[in-house]
Amino acid sequence: MVNKGDEVLNQFQQEKIDETPVNVAKKFKVGLIGTGWIAEAHIQSYKRMPDVEVVAGADLIPGKAEKFFQRWGVEGVRCYPDHKSMLEAEELDAVSVCTYNMTHAQCTIDALEKGVNVLLEKPMSVTLDEAVAMAKAEKKSGKLLSIGFQPRFDANMQMIKKIVESGELGEIYYIQTGGGRRRGIPNSTFIEKKTAGIGALGDIGCYSLDMVLNAIGYPKPLTITGYTSDFFGKSETYSLPENASRFNVDDFAAAFVRLEGGIILDFRIAWAMHLDTPGDTIILGKKGGLRIPSPDCWNGTVGGPMKIYHDVAGK
Ligand SMILES: NC(=O)c1ccc[n+]([C@@H]2O[C@H](COP(=O)([O-])OP(=O)(O)OC[C@H]3O[C@@H](n4cnc5c(N)ncnc54)[C@H](O)[C@@H]3O)[C@@H](O)[C@H]2O)c1
Repeated sequence: MVNKGDEVLNQFQQEKIDETPVNVAKKFKVGLIGTGWIAEAHIQSYKRMPDVEVVAGADLIPGKAEKFFQRWGVEGVRCYPDHKSMLEAEELDAVSVCTYNMTHAQCTIDALEKGVNVLLEKPMSVTLDEAVAMAKAEKKSGKLLSIGFQPRFDANMQMIKKIVESGELGEIYYIQTGGGRRRGIPNSTFIEKKTAGIGALGDIGCYSLDMVLNAIGYPKPLTITGYTSDFFGKSETYSLPENASRFNVDDFAAAFVRLEGGIILDFRIAWAMHLDTPGDTIILGKKGGLRIPSPDCWNGTVGGPMKIYHDVAGK
């Protein structure tokens, strides 16, 4: 006989995944747009896939793409000075868009209009208008646009959605999410509006927002009160002078969001602050509560064992 405890735990077990055999005779042709830091993760993964061939790459910085493919030992890749010329010249099945945030929308829309599938790095876009235009371009093209939220594939992250969907927490009415770093402001292209567009909010805030909104099925936001600040990024005490002088995005963001279905979302994210974490993620439902520990250096992972709080035998 299955006891009640097993019944509860069994519903969270991973189902067996059927793997279809890979056809290596037909290669999937991929191009990389942007050959900076995150492109390194993409090339490593593509190299492990026997049915994928990286045939082209583009970067705005002269010679950068060529050096990138040399460094990774990938031969015969055709390199281009920008994404448009690559899309014009190549017949591709897909592109990885690994550019800074401000060019996400243009690169994605141009690729979709050429009939090419897109794996786009997070955050999806800088503005809502861009995101809408990208979603429309995807629908019109009949191709796939996938946003690179790799935590979606993490078993712990998937568990959060499973717990919410199982009904263990009952109707959700309040969520607190976000996280942050005590000192963790990136530099390079992340700290200027002309390349990044947004700071901590887009860089790491998008992970925590996706974690909880994906779990509850992305209800529509009805009202938002938002706040951003830049005290650390602009300060020569906490940033190198050459970075402080060009810093013009947010290093902290907070928001109070009313979602459809009577759910409140309380959010805060920091690249830097005088604190270890602004709090764990909590999901409060009428039957139970879930605590998801925040990692010290927020990067879209679960920071420790999650806990569910609920009544047992009426207590
Ligand atoms: N998923 C993750 O864990 C993760 C981690 C780090 C960064 N990212 C995301 O990846 C993106 C890139 O970050 P990065 O650190 O690699 O930045 P980066 O500045 O190192 O590289 C971006 C490159 O894109 C190139 N580029 C920009 N527009 C282009 C265009 N139109 N055509 C061709 N090349 C173009 C730039 O010249 C630059 O070399 C950001 O949006 C960031 O949020 C994701």
